[in-house]
Amino acid sequence: MNSAADIVFDEATKTYPGSVRPALDALSLTVPAGEICVLLGSSGCGKTTALTLVNRLTELTGGDIRIDGTSIREQDVIALRRGIGYVIQQAGLFPHLTIAQNIATVPQVLGWPKPRIEDRVRELLELVGLPHGEYGDRYPAQLSGGQQQRVGIARALAADPPIMLMDEPFGALDPVTREHMQDEFLRLHAQVRKTTLFVSHDIDEAVRMGDRIAVLAEGGKLLQYDTPERILHAPADDYVARFVGTDRGLKALTLRRLSDLTLEPYAGGANGTALRADDSLRTALSALLAAGADRLPVTDADGHPVGTVTVDLIREAA
Ligand SMILES: Nc1ncnc2c1ncn2[C@@H]1O[C@H](COP(=O)(O)OP(=O)(O)O)[C@@H](O)[C@H]1O
Ligand SMILES: [Mg+2]
Repeated sequence: MNSAADIVFDEATKTYPGSVRPALDALSLTVPAGEICVLLGSSGCGKTTALTLVNRLTELTGGDIRIDGTSIREQDVIALRRGIGYVIQQAGLFPHLTIAQNIATVPQVLGWPKPRIEDRVRELLELVGLPHGEYGDRYPAQLSGGQQQRVGIARALAADPPIMLMDEPFGALDPVTREHMQDEFLRLHAQVRKTTLFVSHDIDEAVRMGDRIAVLAEGGKLLQYDTPERILHAPADDYVARFVGTDRGLKALTLRRLSDLTLEPYAGGANGTALRADDSLRTALSALLAAGADRLPVTDADGHPVGTVTVDLIREAA
């Protein structure tokens, strides 16, 4: 199967039976293969509808959606869904199956040979940071919320679908776990490069996760489809500007990594206080404030020193 596919919404419209107003109103946008597109907007603006139109849990009432040029209307629903991983807020794991059995579900349905399924389960658990030896035989109730969401992601990736649909996947997690999962997913995405539609009502999450952000409003209307930078710095109208909020400068810091700065030379520092080069400037600023320090050491992923970040460097970058 392809590692990624592009998705085109072409005036995609959904009016639910009994409503006069569409829940999604002629949405047109293209998600390039391998990118993450965040559908952002407040509750009821049609984000979930847009997502479920793609895997046909909801059927279009107007317009079209094409995956790599082929209309979803022309595809067998089962075959279509086979190519799409779907992750929802409550991981939706089968409580009576072990973690390994949960992840094996789709490959089993597809009739993969047993050794191939076992290899895949092992590989995916490794990929989401839950070693098989420790977690494979546990049941979902024996995992934390964040760990369950990781299993949900592993399960969605099991048959290597070119597309991932994620509906507020981290919405039920506490803020610290949520940020951690966002980073983990970005790291994972850099490896597997699935075309991802990611629903969120949280601008910070959208800015962090999205290659592009689609801002939707009441009535399922698209207000702006743009990069996070453009959404923050050039909101299309007052509604987007208000949604993006007043602390735009601070939010822009989440877009930049310490590795983007010219750091001062490494000068050591207290154990355990080092930042990582792939941390965002916002994370760095929070750490500086929390430590009451005007400088902190920065290391690479392996803990090797790469430099020192200062409050002044971040101020200049902002
Ligand atoms: N199955 C349904 N039947 C009728 N109306 C629905 C259904 N699902 C959603 N809606 C309506 O469509 C609109 C968009 O809903 P939804 O896509 O769930 O929004 P969001 O995910 O952005 O919160 C809302 O007004 C909601 O009440
Ligand atoms: Mg929703």
